[in-house]
Amino acid sequence: MTLLEARQVTVRFGGVIAVNRVDIAVNEGEVVSLIGPNGAGKTTLFNAFTGIYRPQEGDLLLFGKSIKGLQPFQIARRGLARTFQNIRLFRDMSALENCLVARQSSRPLRYLEGLLPYAAGRRGQREDLASALAALEFVGLADRRGAKARSLPYGEQRRLEIARALSTGARVLLLDEPAAGMNPQETKELMALIGRIRDTGRTVLLIEHDMRLVMGVSDRVVVLDHGLKIAEGKPQEVRRDPAVIRAYLGRRDDRASTD
Ligand SMILES: Nc1ncnc2c1ncn2[C@@H]1O[C@H](COP(=O)(O)OP(=O)(O)O)[C@@H](O)[C@H]1O
Ligand SMILES: [Mg+2]
Repeated sequence: MTLLEARQVTVRFGGVIAVNRVDIAVNEGEVVSLIGPNGAGKTTLFNAFTGIYRPQEGDLLLFGKSIKGLQPFQIARRGLARTFQNIRLFRDMSALENCLVARQSSRPLRYLEGLLPYAAGRRGQREDLASALAALEFVGLADRRGAKARSLPYGEQRRLEIARALSTGARVLLLDEPAAGMNPQETKELMALIGRIRDTGRTVLLIEHDMRLVMGVSDRVVVLDHGLKIAEGKPQEVRRDPAVIRAYLGRRDDRASTD
């Protein structure tokens, strides 16, 4: 079953076509990686999925229903969560508070929550707390729950971003370069973490530059270049695709020098 889908999606910024008639379908339980050189349109596609940009053409579907034109919070409530390429934590809040805020802002509002009988309101709060704590535990940050986000080492901040997405209970996750800035050991642990996320039955669309990570965790890989999908397939197939080598691997040195 296809949980997340882009159909012929085009996003333009003035004269720039950031995403050009892209089709992507992510099936239940899959880890799909979206790769391509800087400026290929990867993050823009995530922003389209999450309601930050509205595509000029095409459609976006979550659980088989169109989400095009919905507000970000509405899409989050339907079960799509993301992390950001540039870490976006509430730096002065604790790890636990970061997860709680994400949880509370993405779950469906209980109708007139404030007027609910006390016990029912408390039950909701207990569920939020349990979910936030479970997410921290899952990424290995349970003992850091009281630490301010800004006091955490960089690799832990990256994992806290993932915990925040998990705490919403979303079944579909978009991870935008989660290994960026991580050292090799942290990247290896991240690979295991993404595998465990898949084992919970969640579905993951991953933007990543680290090829070892992409090759290690992906069921399928989709390649964008200049907004166009230029290849799609199993990791080993895509890796050998001449168009991919030209567009992406061939420019790795350029990228390294401009990053
Ligand atoms: N808000 C924006 N306004 C104008 N141009 C943008 C905006 N966001 C992205 N772009 C442009 O769209 C293209 C794709 O960018 P992006 O999706 O960030 O690429 P990637 O994530 O693959 O590196 C780039 O040319 C970028 O400059
Ligand atoms: Mg990007």
